[in-house]
Amino acid sequence: MVSHAREQLDRLLVSVPDFPEPGILFRDLAPVFADGDAFHAIVDDLASRFAGQFDAVAGVEARGFVLAAAVAYAASAGVLVVRKAGKLPGEVLRETYDLEYGSASLELEPDRLPVGSRVLVLDDVLATGGTLAASSRLIQRAGYSVVGFGVVLELGELDGRARLGDVPTYSIASL
Ligand code: PRP
Repeated sequence: MVSHAREQLDRLLVSVPDFPEPGILFRDLAPVFADGDAFHAIVDDLASRFAGQFDAVAGVEARGFVLAAAVAYAASAGVLVVRKAGKLPGEVLRETYDLEYGSASLELEPDRLPVGSRVLVLDDVLATGGTLAASSRLIQRAGYSVVGFGVVLELGELDGRARLGDVPTYSIASL
């Protein structure tokens, strides 16, 4: 049976050819986030999939923040922000990962949760898996355990979930 969240995605997801560069088909989730019924459905779907399994939710910049805040609020859990490099003050943990051309870095502030906390990691899209894999390394280096990955959309042909080990990985839709 197709979930309500999946129906909302099918109704509202917009695909933009040649953005941000020629040959790339950009999947724009902004209309899904902007629609109250759709946003409620995707947040409920992610929250219920991992109910009772996490103490905090980590959101990956930028759209992961939106999802993490909503899911954490629904579960009375806290939020961690995994940020792009250079946005956080003081001592930070940093992980660098490869892009098609060059590399990118993500950062996390340490010592925000008790050691051993169970963290659910959320982002909007799973493509190559580099972003979630780097986020996972950061969370583990901080002393927490990653109990799951949740995304709205998975680009299945890139097989990003192969980079995420045996941690449960849930996508509302795989294209
Ligand atoms: C996009 C998306 C994920 C990441 C997935 O982020 O929001 O975070 O790419 O790609 P991967 O699985 O190949 O690592 P982007 O870097 O475009 O940043 P944004 O969310 O701030 O727009």
